[in-house]
Formats: sequence, C-alpha cells, structure tokens
Amino acid sequence: MNAPENPNLAVLNDLRTQALQGGGEARIEVQHRKGKLTARERIDLLLDEGSFEEFDLLKTGRGSVLGGTTASLGDGVVTGHGTIDGREVFVFSQDFTVMGGSLGEAHSQKICKIMDMAVRVGCPIIGLNDSGGARIQEGVDALAAYGEIFHRNVRASGVVPQITCIMGPCAGGAVYSPSITDFIFMVRGSYMFVTGPNVVKTVIHQDISADELGGASVHSVRSGVAHFTAANDILCLREVRRLINYLPSNNKQKAPLLDLRDPPEREDPALDYLVPPSPNQTYDMTVLIHSILDGAEFMEVQASFARNIICGFGRLGGQTVGLVANQPAVLAGVLDNNASIKAARFVRFCDCFNIPLICLVDVPGFMPGPEQEHGGIIRHGAKLLYAFTEATVPRITVIVRKAYGGAYLVMNSKHIHGDIHYAWPTAEIAVMGPRGAVEVIYRKEILAAADPESLMKEKIEHYRRTFASPVLAAQRGYIDDVIFPRETRYRLIRGLQVLEGKTVDRMDRKHGNIPL
Ligand code: HXC
Repeated sequence: MNAPENPNLAVLNDLRTQALQGGGEARIEVQHRKGKLTARERIDLLLDEGSFEEFDLLKTGRGSVLGGTTASLGDGVVTGHGTIDGREVFVFSQDFTVMGGSLGEAHSQKICKIMDMAVRVGCPIIGLNDSGGARIQEGVDALAAYGEIFHRNVRASGVVPQITCIMGPCAGGAVYSPSITDFIFMVRGSYMFVTGPNVVKTVIHQDISADELGGASVHSVRSGVAHFTAANDILCLREVRRLINYLPSNNKQKAPLLDLRDPPEREDPALDYLVPPSPNQTYDMTVLIHSILDGAEFMEVQASFARNIICGFGRLGGQTVGLVANQPAVLAGVLDNNASIKAARFVRFCDCFNIPLICLVDVPGFMPGPEQEHGGIIRHGAKLLYAFTEATVPRITVIVRKAYGGAYLVMNSKHIHGDIHYAWPTAEIAVMGPRGAVEVIYRKEILAAADPESLMKEKIEHYRRTFASPVLAAQRGYIDDVIFPRETRYRLIRGLQVLEGKTVDRMDRKHGNIPL
C-alpha cells in the first residue's frame, strides 16, 4: 500500500519546481540563443558535481515602489556554496531570465548573506554577473542594495579572494562591485561601462557600440579592467577553477601545495644562451618563466594589457608563486604607467594572500617623454615601488640583464628590502644605460674631440666593461650570488624553502597611504 501523500512535501515540491524554472522556458531559450548559459547551468559547470548547496531559493522581494509586483522566487539570483576540487567557495549567479537579472533589495540581501558567510568561514567569493543593473521599479532601495554589496566587497578585500565573471551586461554604478574584487573575467559578448552608448551619444555626440565602448577586448587590451577573457561561458568557468587552485582560501592560509612531479633540481642548459650577445637584441621572457616553473604551467594575469610587464601565477616546488617579470620583447621591457599599475596591484594581491613573489628583471628604466610624465609616471611608478616595499611575503629577485636606475630599485631590489637577490652573469646594474651615461659625463670631452663618434664609442665600451656585469653589485653585497642561468629553478626553490618562516615587524599604524 502506498504511503498517504504529505501535503507539506507537495507544496515544497511545487515551490522548488517553480523557483528552479527561473524566468521560464521562453526566456531560457532566448538566453541560450545568445550563446549564454543560465545562472544554474553556470554554477553546475563552476563547482564540483553535486556539491552545490543553495541558500534562499524561496526568497522573494517586497515588491515595487512603482506599484505592481517584482516578487519572484529567488529574486533573480542563485546563491550558495559548493566546492572546486574539494575546496569550498561561495557563489552568486545572476539570473538574466528573471527581470533581466536586475538587482533589488532581496537580490542584494541574498548576495550579502553569502558574502558575510564567506568572510566568516574564510572562503573565496565568486560572482557570476549577468544583469540589467539596479532594478528600476525598486528605486532608491535598489541603489541602497548596491551600497551594501560595495561595503562588503571592501570589507572582504584582502580577507578572502573575490572573483567576478562578467557574463552579460554590467552597466552604471553596478561596475563598481566587480572593480573592487581581485580578478575580473569577461566573456566575449559581455560588456562593462559606467555610461552606455546612448548617454555617450547624448553627451559627447559620439556613435559607439557597446562592444567598442566596454567589450571584453577593450577591457583586456586598453583599460586593463579585465584580468582574463574567455570566448564563452564554459571556457570562462574552467579558467576560474584553474585560478582558484593557485589561491589560498583566505588571508590566514597558504595556497594549497600541488606536486606536479617536476624535480626541483631540474636544470635547463638552454637558459645559458637565452640572453643574446648584443644588448640591443631582444628575447622573450616567457621562455625563462616556463622553464623555471613546475610543469611549465603559468597562469598569466592581464596578459594583453601593458605587455611590457608580465604578471601571473605558477608553482615552484609545488608552492604557488606570483611572478613579476619585465618583458624585453615588448617596449624593451620599460616601465610605464600601465605596467606600474598592473604590477603594483598584482604584488598587493600576492601580499594579501601569502603568495611569495618572484621578480625577474630586465628593465632599461622608466619610459621617457611627455605622454608618460603628464600621465603621471611619478605617482604610478611610486605605486609599484610602494607595493614591493610594503610586501611582507618572501621576495626573491633574479636580475637577468638590464637593471638600470630607479627601475632597478623599484623591481624588488635589495635596497627596498627584498629577501634574496641573484644575478645572471649577463646582468648589467647601473645608474643608466651606457649611451645616456656617456653623453652626460663625457659631453664636453666628446664635443671637443677630433673624432667625437669614435670617442663616444670608446667611452661607451669602457662604461659597459665597468658596469655591464653583476660583479660590482656582488662586491657590495647588493646581490647574494651570481648564478648560472641553468640552475635558476633550483636556486629559487631553495630560496623559497629558507624563507618559509619569514616574519616581519609591522609598524603600529592604521594603514599606509599608497599613492593611488
Ligand atoms: C528592471 C529590467 C532591468 C532593470 C532589464 N530589465 N533591465 N527590469 N530593472 N534595470 C528587464 C526588462 O524589462 C525585460 O523584462 C527583461 O529584463 C530583459 O530585458 P530586455 O531589455 O528584454 O533584454 P535585452 O534586450 O537583452 O537588453 C538588456 C539590457 C536592457 C541592455 C540590459 O534591458 C537595458 O538597457 N536595461 C536597463 C539597463 C539600465 O539602465 N540599468 C540601470 C543602470 S544604472 P521583460 O519582462 O520585458 O522580459 C545602475 C545603477 C547602479 O545599475 C547603481 C549602483 C550604485
């Protein structure tokens, strides 16, 4: 005989079925036609199978100040927690099929609830954004709702990693929650802007499409707002999982160790020939990066923005490290405004989350010229200087070739209290490059010479012989050892091992005042 049906269970079942439908079949169909997944499909791909625990499935809004109702089960956002490779994360996923994923009071309360819990238990927060912005019908309540999220983004900053995926529209003040988070992924076809094409047209009479104004390409190459881009939702969510694997869950922990079965003592003889014989010849720093890291695995951050500096995560001896490296193949590896800002933020992230820093140096200096000076190279360069100097995580530098002037100091030098400093035999540590130096100190002599060009060459050669080697710096103890390029990986891993127990006295202050 069948057990009698329990009406309470039936009611719950109906409510759940209704909530899980989101905006209904037709709207889901539209979402799919746009090449987008639904909020729940995205969560399924992000998290380990079957690990999602949902909160507030049945929560609804109070309604609309315009009259009518905006009440809908779940209120246009799916929230909860689940695991990525066994480690807990909190997630919210905006449901564009419900009122365009617009954010009202209840929607925000759901997000705030999981943010609060994530901070309480020390787990990352991942936001999947796909929203028409503030829910117009809720008026100022919708704005207040954003404010509550911004407040929590700031409180959680440096406590748990915060990751945002932009998977649809993100416009107006709504952009500021993602922009406070640590990393932004943008899917092609999504966009972010403070004021959209219509407003641009009205105010400055310019025709521009949403994609040209704030698409994934613009934000990855020009503005630097996006740290990662992906062709579609599936690839994006896979990359988020990969990123999470490099990170600790909170600022009290270290990143999880992962043994990629790459022997620490593995040498790469090809590195002995990486730096070309002529100082004007270029080479690709990513060759060195891939060579030294475990399994040649590197996750580059902001790969298309300020390409003259490379930032990203890899592992050495199983331990996550943050790499900051000049790229001589782009603008000769010079430091400019964008490179300084990019690297400074990356360094600060690593410092927040106990990720040791490895700095690979080949820098001819700061970019000269009015464009950079007027763009604020003084304050932007200072950001990087400040970020490295204040970082208390283990900091190891390898000077590969050029290390000139202020840029040498900024790139985690001994003088700003980096921990261990190695130089390759090809290192050149000097106040400035040979030609510039000779033009300053021998100017009168060269002008008066019978053959100025040949005297210039002679002086440059002399300067190069004196400074184009790491020996002078080694004699002063400014570098700890001159190493064979082939052994770089092993030396870095040993360095990280000895710095494992590093402690630093902190100043008694509320916080420093980084030149923002
Ligand atoms: C309420 C909204 C909404 C919103 C979209 N919808 N945005 N409902 N508040 N902000 C609803 C639509 O009415 C529609 O409902 C459904 O969502 C899908 O929207 P469509 O317009 O049909 O979709 P699409 O053509 O894809 O266009 C998406 C869109 C557009 C570009 C996002 O909807 C749009 O421009 N929305 C308004 C965007 C906006 O101005 N937001 C405020 C930004 S200012 P039905 O029932 O018809 O399907 C802001 C300030 C934040 O956010 C401040 C923080 C401090």
